[in-house]
Amino acid sequence: MARWQRTHTCGDLRADHVGQESVLNGWIENHRHHGAVLFVDLRDRYGVTQVVFEQERDAELFERARRLGAEDVLSVRGEVNRREQANAERATGEIELIATALDVLAEADPPPFEILDVPESNEELRMRYRYLDLRRRPLQDALVKRARFVTAVRNKLAQLGFVDLETPILTKSTPEGARDYLVPSRVHPGEFYALPQSPQIFKQLSMVAGLDRYFQIARCFRDEDLRADRQPEFTQIDLEMSFVEEDDVLDVVEETMVHAFREAFGVELQRPFPRMDYMDAVNRYGNDKPDLRFELELCDVSDVVKDSEFGVFSGAIARGGAVKGLCVPGAAEKFSRKDVEKDLGAVVAEYGAKGLAWAKVGDDGALAGSISKFFAGDAGEALKTAMGAGPGDLLLFVADELRIVHRALAELRLALGDRLGLRTPGEFRFAWVLNFPLFEQDPASGQWFSAHHPFTAPVDWELEDFAGSTGSIRSRAYDLVMNGWELGSGSIRIHRRDVQERVFRFLGIGEEEQQQKFGFLLDAFRYGAPPHGGIALGLDRLVTLATGASSIRDVIAFPKTATATDPMCDAPSPVVEQQLDELHIAVKPPAKRESEGTN
Ligand code: AMO
Ligand code: AMP
Repeated sequence: MARWQRTHTCGDLRADHVGQESVLNGWIENHRHHGAVLFVDLRDRYGVTQVVFEQERDAELFERARRLGAEDVLSVRGEVNRREQANAERATGEIELIATALDVLAEADPPPFEILDVPESNEELRMRYRYLDLRRRPLQDALVKRARFVTAVRNKLAQLGFVDLETPILTKSTPEGARDYLVPSRVHPGEFYALPQSPQIFKQLSMVAGLDRYFQIARCFRDEDLRADRQPEFTQIDLEMSFVEEDDVLDVVEETMVHAFREAFGVELQRPFPRMDYMDAVNRYGNDKPDLRFELELCDVSDVVKDSEFGVFSGAIARGGAVKGLCVPGAAEKFSRKDVEKDLGAVVAEYGAKGLAWAKVGDDGALAGSISKFFAGDAGEALKTAMGAGPGDLLLFVADELRIVHRALAELRLALGDRLGLRTPGEFRFAWVLNFPLFEQDPASGQWFSAHHPFTAPVDWELEDFAGSTGSIRSRAYDLVMNGWELGSGSIRIHRRDVQERVFRFLGIGEEEQQQKFGFLLDAFRYGAPPHGGIALGLDRLVTLATGASSIRDVIAFPKTATATDPMCDAPSPVVEQQLDELHIAVKPPAKRESEGTN
C-alpha cells in the first residue's frame, strides 16, 4: 500500500478508534481558521471527517495546510482524537483526526459554484460541471440507492429464472409513440438505423426463440417533448415471459418490487397491490394513474344539475358533456375566494377548463360562493346529497366535455393533495390498472391508434371486425402506477399472425408497410410463437419517487436538460464536413428559431 493510501474512509472513524493512527483521502469541503488551529472537513462518498492542523504541534505542516483550498484532494495522516464537543449530526461527529502528515494529491481551482446539499446555483451551470454537482451528498445517495435497487432487481429476476439478454441499440424503428433517434449508415448510403424506443420486438422474438423468461435493464431512446418525468434516453426494467396470463406477470413484478424496495430502500411493500379497472380509475380519479395516498374522489353531478338555471352546467350537459366535482372535507375555511378563483382556478385552466365553479357549505348547511344563487333550497340540497357534503366542506366543479372535465379535475385533485399535505412522502401506494381499451381515438383527427402498442392482445382473439365498436374493445394491457405516476406498462401480446395483421390493417398500416416495418416479426409468428406477455417499468421514475428526488434528473448520473442537451460535453454539436461526407449527408442550414438567442 502506498504511503498516501487510506486506511479508512471519511465515514468510518468512531469513538472506538480514538488513539489509533489513520490515513484519510478526500476532498476539502470546508476549512476554518481559529488562530493557531485549522479545521478541515474532508469529504468522500462515505462521509465527512474533521481534520485538525495545530501550529503548536507542527508549524511547517500548519503553514502548508494554510495554503489549501476548497476541493483540493488530500491524503492526511493523523491520530484519531475524541472531540471536545461532539457533532451529533455527523456519523463521525465524536472524533477528529489530528494531522501529522499531509500529501496534496491534487490542487483544485476554485469551483464555479459552492457544492452544497441544497444547491443555490442554477441548474444549467451545475449541469455544465455535472461531475462537481455529483459531489453533492443527495445526488450521491440517490445514485447509490439506484445501483442497489438495480442489483436487487437483477438478483430477484435471475433467481426467478429470467435470462438477462442484451438487445441491439443500432436497430429498426419500434413503435412506442415517440419520434426515433436516427443513426446514419456509412456503409449503406442514405440508410439509417433507429435507436430503440424500447426492446419490444426483440423481447417478443426471444420468446419465439424459446428463451421463456427474458429481462434486461434496457436503455431506451425517445425523441419526444420532455417533461419533469421524462428523459430522451432512459432505462427500463424490461421483461417478457412465455406461456403466461396477466396474473403471472403481475406476480413476478410484485415479488421483484417487494424484494428490491426492501433491499434498496428499507421499505416494506404490502402485497398484493390493489387492482383497479381502467374505467373505474378514470371515473373516480380523472385519469389512469391515481395517487392513492388520499381519497378525494370525483363525483358526477351531471344528473343533479342537468336542468339547473346555471347555464354553464346545464349547457355543458346539453352539449353532451358532463359536470363533475370534488367535495373537499373541512376545506371551506382553508381556501379564501381568491385562493379558489386564482390559485385553484389556474390549475384547471391550464388543463383546458373554462372556469372553476365553487361553493362552500356554511354551518347552517346553506351554500355560499360563485354558484350559490343557482343552488338555493332543494337544488342545493340535492347537490350536497350527491356529493356527500356537509358543513365546512368546499365544493369545486368543472363543466365541459368529459375528457376535459377528467383532465382538469385529476390535476386539481393532485394540487389539493399537495396543498392539504395529503401526499405523504415516504408512503408508496402501488396499484395495477387493468382492462384498458385496445384502441383510442385522437379527438382532433378522428384517427384510431393503439392505447398501448400494436402488439397488445385483444381480450377476444376471434374478434373479426375491430371497426364495429372500436372504443369498447378491451385489451389485455395493464399499467403499474404509484403515487400519481405511471411506472410501468405491459400486456399479453398477440402471438398469432392473423390477429397481428388485422390490428395493423385496422391502424391503417397497409400490407406493404407491414412487410417493410414488421415483416420479420410477422414471419417469426409463422414458426411457432408461444403465447407470451411482459412489461417494462421506468427505472428512473421508480427511483425518483422512491428517493423523493425533486426531478428525474437527480437520479440519473449524466442526464439531459429539458431541451435534450448535455451542456457538459456540449451534445448535440455540429460535426466536421469530412464526417458528414463519409455518411453521405448534407445538412440544410437550420432555420433560426426565435427562442434561440445568439448562443
Ligand atoms: P411504455 O412506453 O409505457 O411501454 O414504457 C414503459 C415505462 O417506461 C417509462 N418511460 C419513461 N421514463 C423516462 N423518460 C421517458 N421518456 C419515458 N418513457 C417511458 C415509464 C413507462 O411506464 N415496450 C413497452 C412495455 C411492454 O409492453 O412490455 C413500453 O415501452 O415509466
Ligand atoms: P360566469 O357565468 O362565466 O361568470 O361563471 C360563473 C362561475 O362559473 C365562475 O366561478 C366561473 O369560474 C365558473 N365557470 C365558468 N365556466 C365554467 C365551466 N366550464 N366549468 C366550471 N365552472 C365554470
